[in-house]
Amino acid sequence: MITQNTIQQILSRIDIVEIVGSFVKLKKRGTNYLGLCPFHNEKTPSFTVSPAKEIYKCFGCGRSGNSIGFLMEHEKYSYVEALRWLAAKYNVEIEETETSPEVKQQQLVADSLYIINQYAQKYFTDALMNSEEGRSIALSYLKERGFREEVIKKFQLGYNPDTRDGFTKAALAAQYKLDLLQKSGLVNVRDDNAYDNYRGRIIFPIHNQSGKVLGFGARIIKNNDKAPKYINTPENEIYVKSKLLYGAYFARQAIDKADECLLVEGYTDVVSLHQAGIENVVASGGTSLTPDQLRLIKKYTNNLTIIYDGDSAGIKAALRGLDLALEESLNVKLVLIPDKEDPDSYVNKVGAAAFTRFVAENKKDFILFQLGIALQDAGNDSNRKAQVVNQVAETISKINKAEDFTRQQDYIKQCSELLKIEESGLHALVNKFIREKVSREEGRSFREQQENEKAGTEPMDNLPGDEVTALFNRDEMHEQAMVRSLLEFGLKEWKPGITIAEHVFGEIEENQLDELIDNKELVRILKTYKAWYDAGIEPTAKNFLYHEDLAMSSLVVRIMDFNYEISPNWSEHFEGHIPTRDELYLEEVFSTLNYLKLRKIKRLIDENQRDLERSTTPEDQMVLVQTHHHLKRLEIELTKKLGTVIFR
Ligand code: CTP
Ligand code: MN
Repeated sequence: MITQNTIQQILSRIDIVEIVGSFVKLKKRGTNYLGLCPFHNEKTPSFTVSPAKEIYKCFGCGRSGNSIGFLMEHEKYSYVEALRWLAAKYNVEIEETETSPEVKQQQLVADSLYIINQYAQKYFTDALMNSEEGRSIALSYLKERGFREEVIKKFQLGYNPDTRDGFTKAALAAQYKLDLLQKSGLVNVRDDNAYDNYRGRIIFPIHNQSGKVLGFGARIIKNNDKAPKYINTPENEIYVKSKLLYGAYFARQAIDKADECLLVEGYTDVVSLHQAGIENVVASGGTSLTPDQLRLIKKYTNNLTIIYDGDSAGIKAALRGLDLALEESLNVKLVLIPDKEDPDSYVNKVGAAAFTRFVAENKKDFILFQLGIALQDAGNDSNRKAQVVNQVAETISKINKAEDFTRQQDYIKQCSELLKIEESGLHALVNKFIREKVSREEGRSFREQQENEKAGTEPMDNLPGDEVTALFNRDEMHEQAMVRSLLEFGLKEWKPGITIAEHVFGEIEENQLDELIDNKELVRILKTYKAWYDAGIEPTAKNFLYHEDLAMSSLVVRIMDFNYEISPNWSEHFEGHIPTRDELYLEEVFSTLNYLKLRKIKRLIDENQRDLERSTTPEDQMVLVQTHHHLKRLEIELTKKLGTVIFR
């Protein structure tokens, strides 16, 4: 791990204009910088960088973040890779913390497994190419299937001879430890006897992003009912199935270039397509895609095309993970290969050009495809049809990034046509799912949400032009404003000897935060703020911006506001002095905090009112009426204070 000290050194040197400026041409505009957004196509610049706040925001597509976020998004770096890039740029020497013994041990095992796998891969390749048994049984089989030597070499295919323990003996003689050999899945032990796990099988090594061998898929040569067709490496320190895609190492550049990733089921599909010159292809092994795998794809492209055989059992599995792909803004298409062929056999049959043409002509949109199948299944059953409508609305609601707005609208249009229902109806339904999701994420109950709706505090229904205005209702805006004022002004003076932070946390106890603020993420920020403050760490916006908890840092980025910055041109048009936010901070802190208090009182009044309606005994009613008067008094006092506050 990189030490906190190093991270602080890096952060203290960060110049966001310089960093973003090395990728985007920026021009100074007032206190900010402006350029063409690198994340979406635009002709007039709406990509803004604020050096004062150390954040960027595109007013076109809504993307925003800090320097590290920019590097992660633009250069596809991980958090640590971004830190290393910055350290190199600013000549900061990286200090790493002592790793714990457990982590060290794990790294040791991982390193050993890589070395064993490398040894095994060479052994298997040698057996395939140079042994009598390998050539006559395995290589001839591969050649019969149409694999040529160059592609066999490129993918480092191999063969484990059909002897009990040929590989095991060789590996032990080469000083590899038995327990690690077992862990690697290459060797099994039964009754104290060690033997080869992949006897008589063709070996497909599985590589990580940088070409190191993580594990193997071992295919039987003659299909046989008793033995499984493939034996794969068991999960261990380096082989984590949910995080890898077969062929990713060989496909990276082609995916980038084609701006499309083809996804197939099997090892042989990948190898055959490669041989045919179609290199932007990876395989999932027939299971549903995991979030990690989607992220891997998204590093290179937003376009995912799934190519499966028409009657594959895997297709349902593949479709299952795909709502997730929509949330990640991936564009998902589907192609089914006809006539009991799979991509491997089909490309061998028709050739590369016809294969490519077939894919291009038969790409179906994933959502429309799913809808088609569901409608067919539902037939004339109106109950099931209603289910389908709900399902499709939920799926569409997952496309909810600001930049995907048009896509979402397109889907609503096309699906309502297919479903033969009013577009506006589907629209409303989609919005309902979005709202439910947002309130779930904010830890609010749907019931509460509906009450808000009745009370008329619902946000605009259907204009997600800007993520923020669309997803956050007015209540949330007030909560954000309060947190923002604390983040920006917390260390300033409230009264001589008392900081704003001390004042705020004097007014609300930590355990009251949850009652005052609905959004649990914002509460988390406040609690972290308090903890840092108490521990003597400066809880500045900047420290939050670079918090490694990305959920927290990106929320901070979102609530930091560009809009408050007054254009310098203004002063030319107005006589006299325009007070800035910085000058009015006392008022801002006072009013944002007290607005939330007022809201809490109003909620208590409503609750009390409901209790009153339900109460049956006069004693209860009297107490409730007294409470009502008390709350009303508080409300009036607070309203007065809020209305008359003047600080200068
Ligand atoms: N698979 C597996 N274990 C099995 C069967 C299949 O792990 N017992 C995975 C493998 O990754 C395989 C993929 O599912 O590549 C697809 O299976 P299948 O279509 O049966 O195999 P192919 O790779 O197409 O092999 P072949 O063309 O030789 O039949
Ligand atoms: Mn096959």
